[in-house]
Amino acid sequence: MDEEKILERMFPSDILPNIYPKETDYDDIDEILNSNIFNVMLNRRSQRKFEDKEIETWKIEIIFAAADTAPTAGGFQGFEIFHIIKEEIKRKLVTAANNQPYVNAPMVLVFCANHNRIKMNFSKDILQKFSVQDATLAASYAQLASHALGLSSIWIGMFDEQSVKNIINTDLQPSSILCVGYPKKMLMPKPKRKLTDLIHNVYD
Ligand SMILES: Cc1cc2nc3c(=O)[nH]c(=O)nc-3n(C[C@H](O)[C@H](O)[C@H](O)COP(=O)(O)O)c2cc1C
Repeated sequence: MDEEKILERMFPSDILPNIYPKETDYDDIDEILNSNIFNVMLNRRSQRKFEDKEIETWKIEIIFAAADTAPTAGGFQGFEIFHIIKEEIKRKLVTAANNQPYVNAPMVLVFCANHNRIKMNFSKDILQKFSVQDATLAASYAQLASHALGLSSIWIGMFDEQSVKNIINTDLQPSSILCVGYPKKMLMPKPKRKLTDLIHNVYD
């Protein structure tokens, strides 16, 4: 199946009109769609310094579409993405995020939990927990997709929830802010603890 057919099946062009790269970008898209997920995961690093360069619309749409491929509780997609376009709102989010300046990035996405979408017969607490997991997973997929597209990102968890809600004008609970842009410089993967320390085998 050629690349365009894969894209059309996953992300219909009536919904994401700019997702198809211009002809000049075709070399890129080939490489991107064939990118190995393990390479992407192993080489992703948090980036807090971005080039002052706009992200192409088709890359933005692939990031949205990738977020939308994440699993969600019951398949109900219990999350929403707020794409912050206005510079003034980005600056307000910097303040809400403990004055972390890199929140004012070329692309800023606020992932919010929306338990109202999850039509399952469980308590509100469970549905709220599901929706936070939905929003978190979607942000994580968006983060990996960003990296596969030659971008970098920083995950922001340190923010004042009520301030963010006021700034983006929603009652929904923000779970994370993902800031994306072209990296100033590529960073080497960070050392982690040994896998043997991480994994706890449970036998009985
Ligand atoms: C739940 C969560 C919250 C985070 N919050 C912030 C944050 O508010 N500010 C920040 O600069 N980085 C934040 N980070 C990014 C981490 O600092 C970063 O992922 C970690 O240091 C590992 O580095 P790496 O992503 O380069 O592997 C957060 C990451 C996660 C998963």
